[in-house]
Parts: sequence; C-alpha cells; structure tokens
Amino acid sequence: MSKKILIMHGPNLNLLGEREPGIYGDTNFEAVNTRLVTFAKSLGLEADVFQSNHEGALIDKLHESRTEYAGVVLNAGAYTHYSYAIADAIKAIRIPVIEVHISNVFARDAFRSNSVIAPVCAGSISGFGVLSYELGIQALEAMTK
Ligand code: DQA
Repeated sequence: MSKKILIMHGPNLNLLGEREPGIYGDTNFEAVNTRLVTFAKSLGLEADVFQSNHEGALIDKLHESRTEYAGVVLNAGAYTHYSYAIADAIKAIRIPVIEVHISNVFARDAFRSNSVIAPVCAGSISGFGVLSYELGIQALEAMTK
C-alpha cells in the first residue's frame, strides 16, 4: 500500500490562477492540484488535497492528519505570519509538516518575512512557484522512508 500524504492549502489559495497572477501564476487551483497529485504518484505517494479559508478548519484537519498521513505539505497562506494556533497544532501532531510558499516571502512585504510556523515545521521552501510544493513532496518522501 502506498504512503499517504496531505497537501494542505490555507486562505485565498483556492483563487490560484485568478489571484495576483504576477505573483502566484496563472495556473488555476484545480490544475495545480492535479499536477501535485500526479507528481506525488510518480514518487509512489498517494496525495489528498485539502483547502480552507478558515483557521479552525485547518487546525481540525491537521489533528485528523496525524493518524491518516505520513506527513503534510502546508501552504498556510497569510496564517503563516501570525497564527500561533496553527503553529501549536503542528507542534501537537507528530507527523512532519513541510512549510511551502509559492512566492519568495522574503522578497515581499516585511510582515511576510516572519513565519510563526517555521520553527515547528520540518523545513521551509519558498519562492519556486508551484515547484515549491513539489520540492516539499519530495522532501516528505525522503524523510518518511
Ligand atoms: C503565500 C505567501 C503568503 O504571504 C500569502 O499570504 C499567501 C500565499 C505563498 O504561497 O507565496 O497567501 O503563502
């Protein structure tokens, strides 16, 4: 049976393709997820996808993930920068969580340079477009052997 991972998107990422395409690209959310699930499969992983615009829903899903998945690739969107509740949820579960960002968060507004989830994630990847998620999936594959 193949290893299961969760690809998790936070607020506003459902609008990928429409939202600030100069920053986030013009590929729509469904097409991004199809690419990611296909990439995961090529590494022998079964990937599920979850998106929510709500902090509590993301926290509930992180809690559920701990028994169902080998790890999580998480783009927490703007929650990255201030959600201590999501940071605590990541700390509470034992599976690895990889922080990813489409844009280079260090090259934008000053508030985006701070991640409150980075210290509790296994690692962080930022600035490579949709490839950031693929690098995250690859890291999960390698670290959960
Ligand atoms: C983002 C960067 C965040 O600062 C922003 O709030 C997002 C997307 C990214 O993928 O580049 O919603 O996480």
